Amino acid sequence: MAYGVKVLATGRYLPERVLTNFDLEKIVDTTDEWIRTRTGIETRHIAAEDEATSDMGTQAALRAMEEANVKPEEIDLILVATLSPDKIFPNTACFVQKKIGAVNASCFSIEAACSGFVFGFQIAASMIQTGLYKRALLIGAEMLSSVVNWDDRTTCVLFGDGAGAVVLAQCPESENCFVASDTGSNGEYTDILHVQSGGTADPLTVEKLQNKQNCLEMSGKEVFKIAVNSMVSSAKISLEQANLTIDDIDWIIPHQANLRIIAAVGDRLGINKDKCYINVHRYGNTSAASIPIALDELVRADKIKRGDHILFVAFGGGLTWGSTILKW
Ligand code: UT7
Repeated sequence: MAYGVKVLATGRYLPERVLTNFDLEKIVDTTDEWIRTRTGIETRHIAAEDEATSDMGTQAALRAMEEANVKPEEIDLILVATLSPDKIFPNTACFVQKKIGAVNASCFSIEAACSGFVFGFQIAASMIQTGLYKRALLIGAEMLSSVVNWDDRTTCVLFGDGAGAVVLAQCPESENCFVASDTGSNGEYTDILHVQSGGTADPLTVEKLQNKQNCLEMSGKEVFKIAVNSMVSSAKISLEQANLTIDDIDWIIPHQANLRIIAAVGDRLGINKDKCYINVHRYGNTSAASIPIALDELVRADKIKRGDHILFVAFGGGLTWGSTILKW
């Protein structure tokens, strides 16, 4: 028997500390002007020393649960999308479970880099639709400040920390919000956006640690081109699946990596600029957290109406990409 799935509520958490482009000018050889014109980013939030990814995910989750009026013991599934887990194992969702007291939840994490929230939505929604779970907490949480190389000006200016969450619940099929979704990957590009060392394929040594091989590396230009192409084609696949055109979309929430990527995707899809939600200037790229943070901002600003069509579209390391269409 198939059920419907709906979004009960959303939440977000951004750590208090704000790092501006001017602060970065003091750390690496960069300028506010370069960062703004090449990326659109002006500030990003950075987690405190005693904060971990699960702490940020927990805060976002508690806000979403409060809004949804859902108790921790009513949650039966917790998924955390992250590329910056608390530990290699146990998975970060288990730490969130402990912190919120969701004793009845099954917990696992999703490793699809910046596309993780879109992959997670597909997984959680499908599991609810088949009747396996009734109430899921889907979280995108990242502490990228712990993964970037603070000596590398080509990457350290791009990323930020934060978390976003949604509470999903089973509902009658007639109220189903999950209209379409597409995900894809290309393992030929595992080395253009990655952390070189620290896993089983290339264990860390003192020398590799000194060379910062435990940090994120990216071929920005190459990633840029593939990002635009794959986000556009994935969005088109979801639109076709939903039998909708781009004009039927009320809000597009693209992964917030770079204003120029967002603009190129918007132009190629032919969407009105006013329908494209942008907050990359405030938070930088928060990877799997970027879409749920943006969604929560839109929801809490009362900008989404019942019946609106929302398109998420993301891209990230793997390479991975995906899109989701919701009917609110
Ligand atoms: O979430 C998904 C993962 N990430 C992305 O989607 C990011 C995709 N890529 C990008 O957003 C862009 O490629 C970047 C923002 C990373 C770079 O922009 P770009 O326009 O592709 O610049 P570039 O890499 O071609 O660099 C242009 C110049 C270079 O100098 P030369 O060789 O022309 O003399 C860089 O060394 O800018 C230099 N540069 C910088 N200068 C000042 C690179 N980083 C900086 C910096 N400040 N922070």
